[in-house]
Amino acid sequence: MTFVAPAVSLRGDLAVPSVKGICQRAVLLGAIAEGRSEIRGFGRAEDTESAISVVRQLGVEVVDVADDVVHVHGVGLRGLREPDAPLDCGNAGTVMRLAAGILAGQAGTFTLVGDASLSSRPQERVAVPLRAMGAAVQTTDAHAPVTIRGAALVPIRYELPVASAQVKSAVLFAGLLAESGPTTVIEPAPSRDHTERMLAALGVRIVRRPGEVSVWPVQSLRPLSVEVAGDLSSAAPFVVAATLLPDSEIRIHGVNVNPTRTGLLDVLERMGGRISLYNRRTVSGEPVADLEVAHAELVATEIGPQEVPRLVDELPLFVLAASMARGRSVVRGAGELRAKETDRIATVTDALRALGAHVTATRDGFTVRGVPARPRGGRVESAGDHRIAMLGAIAGVVSREGVEIADAEAVAVSFPGFFDLLDSLAQR
Ligand code: S3P
Repeated sequence: MTFVAPAVSLRGDLAVPSVKGICQRAVLLGAIAEGRSEIRGFGRAEDTESAISVVRQLGVEVVDVADDVVHVHGVGLRGLREPDAPLDCGNAGTVMRLAAGILAGQAGTFTLVGDASLSSRPQERVAVPLRAMGAAVQTTDAHAPVTIRGAALVPIRYELPVASAQVKSAVLFAGLLAESGPTTVIEPAPSRDHTERMLAALGVRIVRRPGEVSVWPVQSLRPLSVEVAGDLSSAAPFVVAATLLPDSEIRIHGVNVNPTRTGLLDVLERMGGRISLYNRRTVSGEPVADLEVAHAELVATEIGPQEVPRLVDELPLFVLAASMARGRSVVRGAGELRAKETDRIATVTDALRALGAHVTATRDGFTVRGVPARPRGGRVESAGDHRIAMLGAIAGVVSREGVEIADAEAVAVSFPGFFDLLDSLAQR
């Protein structure tokens, strides 16, 4: 049990762990590249370590050169070795789904497993297109364990039933291994494009048109050299806390501001938030900036399905912000939240209602009656979900009485130093 006391304000300078999904993609692609890839600014967390342990199980040497530098000794496009035990993806959905795309084109049979949370998440969404490409993919009642027998793959043109960067990336990875011709993914709404940017940086033939992306097979992949900036999803708790607490002013240095990920910043801005981006630069093909956030009085807003993927992992924090904004906020078209580490429509609603906020769950989102005052506080069950544990902590600093968080250690999935950093910025 961790108790987070109310704070007067949030002040200071900080940096956050690097983009989890880029670290995971770099490890997985590095594993099938030719020779040594280098990842700088690697963010250590349970989910990124899961990527490393999975490729090690597949016969890839990974060297921890420094705490934040990793070398991956790639074995070539089809060089992954059949392991003698199931591949343990832990809590990491990105690792399970993206690895599936690569394994679909390898010689051998591979079983992917995960923890209880990951084992409750849908996997047919990735099995369906990989089967269409020729791999034999078996799920367990549509969930993990997922067993894949690799095959010579044929390219497909695939329309995603839901906007998902994980499924898109799995199909694109498999497309690299197809026998000939372009593999195309059509998206109902734009999702994060880290995979597309990384493949383009590697010289892979990839063509992007509005609403779709095509990738051509490669003979081999050259090794990567990537520097990874801070994850906006890990910056988001601090952005929201500084916005909500009077007198706050924080600067977050070196944050990835890829426009497919910055929905929360845009939403807060239209609610009246005061967030500025400066020192804009490009690092390894990704836009990066420093963020300055000051306290602001917020007004309610609405979020619809086209915008959801741009802040899908930040919606829990948005609901907290909306609960302290003036007016009624609505989120629609976010049914995907029910398929995250927990059913986040349920866990967010339960967590914030328990603290005194006026949040109602709908089938595919939330309605929030905002009250521009601190919530009372109380107790939050993280249910083992890292983003719910961080939501509870931010609710704690902005509350009147503080928040007790059950299962707070879940933050280590993406952000092991989260509580210490929050404590160092909170003025009490
Ligand atoms: C991710 C994509 C999103 C996101 C997840 C990471 C990725 O999932 O929620 O935390 O790295 O591609 P979906 O693609 O399933 O929406």
